[in-house]
Order: sequence, then structure tokens, then C-alpha cells
Amino acid sequence: MSAVLETDDVSESAVPGLRTIKVGLLGLGQVGQAVARIAPEAARLKHAGLRFRITGALVRDVNKVRRCQKPRVTSNPSAFLRGNYDVVIEALSNVEPAHGIVRRLLGRGVPVVTANKALVATHGLELAALAIRRGTTLRYEASALAGVPFLGAFAARPLVSDVHRLTAVVNGTSNFILSKLEREQCTFDAALEDARRLGLTEPDATRDVSGQDSADKLTLLAAIFGWGTVPAFRISTQSIHGLSARDFAIARSLTSTIKPLVFAKRTAAGISAFVGPAVLPQEHPLASLVGALSGIHLSGSFISDLFFSGPGAGPDITAATLLDDAVEALCTHTARPGRAVVPTPHVATIASAPTTGWLVRTTFPGVVPQAATVEQLFSTHHLTTTHVSDAIDNQRWVRLAPLTSEALDFALNRIAATHRIQTFAIRALQE
Ligand SMILES: NC(=O)c1ccc[n+]([C@@H]2O[C@H](COP(=O)([O-])OP(=O)(O)OC[C@H]3O[C@@H](n4cnc5c(N)ncnc54)[C@H](OP(=O)(O)O)[C@@H]3O)[C@@H](O)[C@H]2O)c1
Repeated sequence: MSAVLETDDVSESAVPGLRTIKVGLLGLGQVGQAVARIAPEAARLKHAGLRFRITGALVRDVNKVRRCQKPRVTSNPSAFLRGNYDVVIEALSNVEPAHGIVRRLLGRGVPVVTANKALVATHGLELAALAIRRGTTLRYEASALAGVPFLGAFAARPLVSDVHRLTAVVNGTSNFILSKLEREQCTFDAALEDARRLGLTEPDATRDVSGQDSADKLTLLAAIFGWGTVPAFRISTQSIHGLSARDFAIARSLTSTIKPLVFAKRTAAGISAFVGPAVLPQEHPLASLVGALSGIHLSGSFISDLFFSGPGAGPDITAATLLDDAVEALCTHTARPGRAVVPTPHVATIASAPTTGWLVRTTFPGVVPQAATVEQLFSTHHLTTTHVSDAIDNQRWVRLAPLTSEALDFALNRIAATHRIQTFAIRALQE
């Protein structure tokens, strides 16, 4: 696709009937460059009666070569803020300097759309409240499941968005890695390397693998569904690192698969949540998501089985979603605040992580005991076994009835200390 970035000398009369929108762009990385490549395609935006002209961009390194026609760039936030914008598209990589700049823009009444989930997870409620006070708009559809346009669908629907429970795959990179383990029986490191090579990972891939990125998105979703602030560091989070192709073979033999899940439900005791790999029955809608796809399954007061899925990320789809958000921000800007539903900023009560079933990979130091002996051993430590797999080399997989992670950790530590048996536990959801 050829990139023709509009410049100041382009005559507005060249495309009659279109309103030219001055765009400030925060960041010209993978997403920012895609915005700069797609934005000038006025033909596709004609239906909105708009065309975009990028009048300034903030970057860290002004001399870097960009894969788009370069707008005027600066590395100085104050210089960027002196620009006159109809809307600002934010695609910086971190919370700062994005937070300070977005606050200043919203404070001046400039609508902002963002893809920065770390920013929205940390300061989303505060910024949304500021936008409303200043009669402007903050939109962040691109910050969670960028290619699945579902957040906007909830924005003006207080009853439908009364969600009580969500189960989701929100990190496409982790799903890609686990799908490779399952389908190609490769090692974890080989799958991660492939994800890196295809440009699927965050600049720091540990955010994907550790579950940190998913925990941030859960914080964001909790805010959108009116659950209040659920700090990411309070969410029980397990890395997908350490899973092996054999774990998937065992899951398959149990007509299940393993997905990098985010699970949360609102209970009387507070928000009960976890992030990490989990065994799911093959008939669960999320089980069918392979490769870098993402999806979210919701239940609430008026919805019992709502499922959205699609590409979770990628520069082009993220840029398209940002530009759609910009169109929406501009269309709603003068008429009313950005959201009909305004989440009240409050810190949510965090309950313990949910009680779930478990699949425990058990590695024995010597000869593998009989299945009945393994069952007996686990039972001695108050663990109820529902299935023990056939042995593969010196390993068996034990399926356990639901219990808390604290009770499980206590029992497995005792087993490890007494019998020199190594274990690796994966949560298992029944539904
Ligand atoms: N990539 C995706 O598919 C995707 C999908 C959904 C959401 N997102 C989110 O979108 C945002 C951008 O992602 P990306 O993949 O485009 O990241 P990226 O390639 O790392 O680009 C980040 C941009 O921010 C600029 N930047 C970073 N620190 C800065 C500072 N202190 N001052 C000025 N500029 C600074 C960088 O400038 P230089 O180029 O000069 O270094 C770069 O242009 C992130 O928040 C990400 O989580 C990404």
C-alpha cells in the first residue's frame, strides 16, 4: 500500500464536501506508523464526511527511519502540546509520558483516543472523569482486543453491560504460543521465538508470557463493566512459561485444551479473578480460538452467553480501530460526552481467587508408581483425585477436584518435600 501523508499545502477543495481533521499523533512505532499509512486514505473515510491530516507527531528519536511518510515530528512534549489538534491519537509504549500529555489535552477539551492499555488500566477512570468534566471524549476501544469492536457496544448500554462474569483470551501472543505447542509439539522457547519473529510480541515479551499484559486488560475490562478499580498487581497471575506439548496431549485425552485465560466474577465478597493457563473443555467457545485470535465470553443480569472473538492485536487493525474511534469521538464530541455510562471511580474489593479444578503434572524421581498409589499419595494430603493419566516416561498427570490455590500449594509443597516429587499445576475450568 502506498503511503501518501497529507501535508499543509494540500488544498481542502481537492475533495469537496469533506471536513479536514487535524490529528496529533503520540508515537510513531508499529501502531503510529500504521495510523500514518492508513489515515490519508480519505476515500474509505468519506462515509463519515471526514479526512485526516496528521499535523504533528511525538516520538522519542526524531531521526529514526519510519515506514510511512513522516509527519512533522518532535521529541519534546511541550512542543507537541503547542499544536492545534481536532483529535489526538495516542500510541505511546508506556504510561509516562502518555498520562501527563493526555491529561493536558483532555484538560484543554481535545478529544483523545488511545491504544495504550497500560495507560487505561492505570489511569483510565481518572482520565474518563476528566474528559466528561471538560465536555470532551476519551475513547479506548483499541486498548483491549483491538480487532474485536465490542467495548463501544457496551458504552451506551447500562443494562446489557451489567456483566457479572467474564472468561477471556485477551493476549493473542500467548494464545499463538500455546496453539503452537499443541499443534506442532515444539518447545516453549521455539514457539516464543516464532512469535517474536512474526512481530507478535510486545517490545518486552515477558509482559505477554507472564500474564502482566492480560492482567492490565482485566483491570481495564473491570472498569468498563463498572466493577471499579481492580489493581493488576492484586490479581492472582500465573505465567504460561513451563507448559509443555505433553500437557496439551493429556488435556486432549480429557477432551479439553489449555488456554491463556483471564477469568473474573463479581461476587458478594468482591471480585474473584485469576490470570494464567487453564484447562478448558473442548466445547467451550474460547477453546476454538487458535493462533493469535482473542475472545471474550460474558454473562450478566441480562446476558448469559455472549461471545466476541477476532484478531486481538496487530498494527493495522489497531490503527483502523483508533481511526474509527477518532471518527466516533468527533461525531459525538460536540453533542454529548463520550460515554452515556460513566463508571464511578472506586477501588473494588478483591476476593480470593476462585476455587477451581486442577491438572497437576507430576514428575517422579525414579520408577513411576501405579496410578492407584499416586491417588493414595494425593489423598493422604487431602487432595481428591478424579483421574490419573497413563505414565509417559517418569511423569503422570493428576486431575483434582476443585480447591483453592492456597490449599493446593500447601499440599504440593508437602508432597515435594517428603517424596522429592516435582509438580506443575494448571487450573481446570468445568464450564
Ligand atoms: N502493536 C500492537 O499490535 C498493539 C495492539 C494494541 C495496542 N497496542 C498498544 O499501542 C501502543 C503502541 O504500540 P506499538 O506496538 O506501536 O509500540 P512501539 O512500536 O514500541 O512504539 C511506541 C512509540 O512510542 C514512542 N515513545 C516511547 N517512549 C516515548 C517517550 N518517552 N517520548 C516520546 N515518544 C516515545 C516511540 O518513539 P520512537 O519510535 O522514537 O522510539 C514509538 O514511536 C502500546 O501502548 C501498545 O500496548 C499495540
